[in-house]
Amino acid sequence: MPRQLPVDELVSDPYPIYAALRAEGPAAAVEVRPGYQVWMVTRYVEARQALANPALGNDPGNGRWMADVVGDAVNAAMNKHLLRADPPDHTRLRRLVSKAFSGTRVAALAPWISKLADELLDRIEPGEKVDLLDSFALPLPLQVICELLGIPAGDRHLFRDWSDVIISGAHQRDRYKDMAEALVAYVQRLTAVKRADPQDDLLSDLISVRDDDDQLSDQELTAMVVLLLFAGHETTMNLLGTGLFLLLTHPEQWAALRADRSLVPAAVEEMLRYEAPLRTAFPRYAREGVQIGDVTIPVGAVVMIALQSANHDERRYVSNDDFDLARTSATHLAFGHGIHFCVGAPLARLEGRIAFNALLDRYESISLAVPPEDLRWRFSTLIRGLESLPVIGTEAVS
Ligand code: HEM
Repeated sequence: MPRQLPVDELVSDPYPIYAALRAEGPAAAVEVRPGYQVWMVTRYVEARQALANPALGNDPGNGRWMADVVGDAVNAAMNKHLLRADPPDHTRLRRLVSKAFSGTRVAALAPWISKLADELLDRIEPGEKVDLLDSFALPLPLQVICELLGIPAGDRHLFRDWSDVIISGAHQRDRYKDMAEALVAYVQRLTAVKRADPQDDLLSDLISVRDDDDQLSDQELTAMVVLLLFAGHETTMNLLGTGLFLLLTHPEQWAALRADRSLVPAAVEEMLRYEAPLRTAFPRYAREGVQIGDVTIPVGAVVMIALQSANHDERRYVSNDDFDLARTSATHLAFGHGIHFCVGAPLARLEGRIAFNALLDRYESISLAVPPEDLRWRFSTLIRGLESLPVIGTEAVS
């Protein structure tokens, strides 16, 4: 019988659990919730190899419960996306999205993101106690991905509710059905509008992008937009929220950044290493027996690649559990590795750099408004993020 991991501890402080698993070996059979048995890969080198191993592909069982709840058509629009595709489908979809999601399009967004960051901070009164997740870390990436896709400003608030329910789908089945149906219908309507009247935005580009005679089908297009919306804001929100929490609990690092802004890019990488917003990669499925170090994973097993654990592997990182902005290596696995390496990594890095520079410009110091031990982590085995981040900022005298 594989041992059951204590879910509450995995949510609040996973690192001691991972350290114990790493000490035993590179992969272990565990239950991450009652009845759900997986093999967890925990060491850096083996995790990186597993992410690039073609024998570890999409789990055919993925999304089965959702099809029971929402029916096949909505389920396909929600789940049959890039992250769940294997080659050759993945290769084709990735080539098409990469054409539309170009570096030029991302870079062109930088002035808009800076302006948005300043506007969000302008709304906070000096000395006011405020939840920076709600007022900054969440709206910034949500607005950015909506702007990029060309979602009209008046509709953007809808995505917050949809996202909450969809991320915690398994825990809120009834609401999941309503939200998934509403979201898919919305994306299909918007696609029809953009098809008739293309604009200078990513959705219009995704509609028109072509590879020889190939194009995204309607279902692929909807699934791609849904993936981009959620992949694009839940993760980045937690980079900003958790990253700021790390700086507030390491005030000397805040001071170092204020003194030398050239450290900001490395700081963003260390935040991603130290608190990877995706705890694990999406579940993989062993199509054949797979060797992970000295452990043999049997055919048909579900494999979880623990990105947070790999990023804290003592074999890879000196003082692995220290948050240290002086590290300059960006070889962490927070964006994954191999064919599914994050499409949005350049955008997430850009948003991180802009957001932290905006905060450092404005505030001499920021203090937590509650003791750190009172903060709660969201109850999710996929996403690592705080429920709230109440703070009080002291504005810099210019
Ligand atoms: C894939 C993390 C931001 C779009 C991934 C994967 C990770 C990841 C770990 C691979 C998962 C796996 O292999 O199972 C992150 C983090 C982010 C972030 C930590 C922010 C800090 C974004 C943004 C976008 C995005 C801003 C888009 C606007 C995607 C897409 C994929 C992906 C489309 C699937 C790629 C594929 O399957 O080929 N991301 N992501 N991500 N990410 Fe991100």
